[in-house]
Amino acid sequence: MPSSPFIIVAIDGGAASGKSSTSRALSERFNFLHSDTGSYYRAVTAELLRLGISPADPAAVQNALAGVSLATTVRGRRAVMQIGGREVPETEIRSAETTANVATFAAIPALRAALLDYQRSQAETARTHGFGGLVMEGRDIGSKIFPDADLRYFLFADPAERARRREQQGLQDQVAKRDTLDSQRLRESLQGATLIDSTYLTLEQVVEQIAGEISAKLQAA
Ligand code: CDP
Repeated sequence: MPSSPFIIVAIDGGAASGKSSTSRALSERFNFLHSDTGSYYRAVTAELLRLGISPADPAAVQNALAGVSLATTVRGRRAVMQIGGREVPETEIRSAETTANVATFAAIPALRAALLDYQRSQAETARTHGFGGLVMEGRDIGSKIFPDADLRYFLFADPAERARRREQQGLQDQVAKRDTLDSQRLRESLQGATLIDSTYLTLEQVVEQIAGEISAKLQAA
């Protein structure tokens, strides 16, 4: 009997480009596991800040990470990270301090290396929990984590529109500054991906485009 298809969808893009809302909607529609890798970088950042570790000290970052275990809890359709057995609360993950520091921590090679296998292991987590696929969002998913993903997207939106979206959410964020810090990764993940400019599109329109392509893949599989 042929095994049912398992689809990996990579969604990369800059800060506040609509990755999370899009990924969440797709995971619900297709019963895919949703992995928000930005939340992992944020959780690790919050934990390192809590331990008093500075992003200016990569050796201390590496040491701290060598001593903690990373695990995944599946909540609904979301893959949630546990660090050293603790789930970092959403208030810490989205705090202004975490947001201001995350891109600097994320640029440290040892930190990215520590998260590489963790992120890849989520495909297996999705399979063992009976999901039909994985939708993973971030900055380097289609370039580094799953370069062989079945579908690869890059979401773009005008910087002024993105700043407006964050303001509407009542969140303090410097999207342009984070994009500059993330720029090399963003350039790499854009290559070979389907570019979607969401500046003048609704969330539903973005979701419809990707959903149509996922349906076609599932039918062809
Ligand atoms: O807030 P927003 O959704 O725009 O960003 P995020 O997805 O929560 O990611 C927060 C930060 O984590 C980014 O600015 C990147 O510096 C870093 N990140 C990364 O380096 N690689 C990823 N795959 C995901 C996030």
